[in-house]
Amino acid sequence: MRKKIYMDYAATTPVDPRVVKAILPYFSEKFGNTMSLHFFGQEAKEALEESREVIADLIKAKANEIIFTSSATESNNLALKGIAFANKNKGRHIIISSIEHPCIMESAKWLEKEGFEITRLRVDGYGQVDPDDIKKAIRKDTILVSVMHANNEIGTIEPIEEIGKICREKEVYFHTDAAQSFGKISIDVDKMNIDLLTASSHKMYGPKGAACLFIREGIKIIPLLHGGGHESGLRSSTINLAAIVGFAEACEICKKGIKKESQRLTKLRDKLIKRVLDEIEESYLNGHPKKRLPNNANFWFKFIEGESMVIQLDLLGIAASTGSACSSEKLEPSHVLLAIGLKPQEAHGSLRLSLGRWTKEKEIDYVLEVLPKVIKKLREISPFKKH
Ligand SMILES: Cc1ncc(COP(=O)(O)O)c(C=O)c1O
Repeated sequence: MRKKIYMDYAATTPVDPRVVKAILPYFSEKFGNTMSLHFFGQEAKEALEESREVIADLIKAKANEIIFTSSATESNNLALKGIAFANKNKGRHIIISSIEHPCIMESAKWLEKEGFEITRLRVDGYGQVDPDDIKKAIRKDTILVSVMHANNEIGTIEPIEEIGKICREKEVYFHTDAAQSFGKISIDVDKMNIDLLTASSHKMYGPKGAACLFIREGIKIIPLLHGGGHESGLRSSTINLAAIVGFAEACEICKKGIKKESQRLTKLRDKLIKRVLDEIEESYLNGHPKKRLPNNANFWFKFIEGESMVIQLDLLGIAASTGSACSSEKLEPSHVLLAIGLKPQEAHGSLRLSLGRWTKEKEIDYVLEVLPKVIKKLREISPFKKH
């Protein structure tokens, strides 16, 4: 039988069987609308509020600071546009990093057309923002800084505690997109001075269709969706309770095992990185060697074209990615890899292997066995290689 090794956990994760079990009653028994006054509605409302508490607890927030949305894309749009329009009389300047997910980059571009001014900060060769650059970029009319917690392509973890401190001192709101880090590394919104935070269920073994935006108590935002007034009027639409209950169950599971699982994955990740760099000529690591997500390994290989590498690996039973799943259908080189200084041709030779809850050491060994052969074969026919 064909091997099926999943090494693309950063794109999405399978739903944990414990989460599936927790969700099932919410389809046909506990199916009520949280806005209904009868028993079914009240039972649903109770499950919704319990879920809110569990999710808030994972980032040391209060339950009333969590607004449920459908996706990290929606949460990020809500954060940027919601803060921008609520504060447009105070200022119209927003700072983001140059390696944000496309949903932040595109929201910022849209806001530019609406009369806001965006500063896109450079990152260093590892993909880190320099907090001093934030300090220098903040102006009197700056209303928001948005820097992701961990990058989805190269796994680099940003110095968000320092960035948060600067924003607090300068009285500028600080948003962080934690879609990749939530449930994998600890987050404390108070200690890190975070005002708004995006998290998503399907990146941490919960179902698709549930995500949230943490909004610190007292911060006003303008909603994107208007309607029946759900989620304190900030996100109208009938609540997707089954997905939210699953999101909360996924949080409970992550919370219990966060330290142990992070250590296990870090060990597997480091073995993979070391052996690839040692055993494959002209291979390089993208992202920070230490300050990176425990489950992310991202390389670039000279004289290689990433898509062919992913196809060859797929034929051998390994599901990998050239970058983020969301942008891998585009043929342009990744904006993240260009921002860390790779040339377009180098960026095209990149491979992301992201590990997760069901990754076993023998799967890493299999990757280490086949990857050098794939690279060798592709280099033999590479149009880039100088013969
Ligand atoms: C850092 C980050 N932000 C936002 C998103 C968007 O998530 P979704 O497509 O689930 O809305 C992703 C998805 O890959 C991500 O990795």
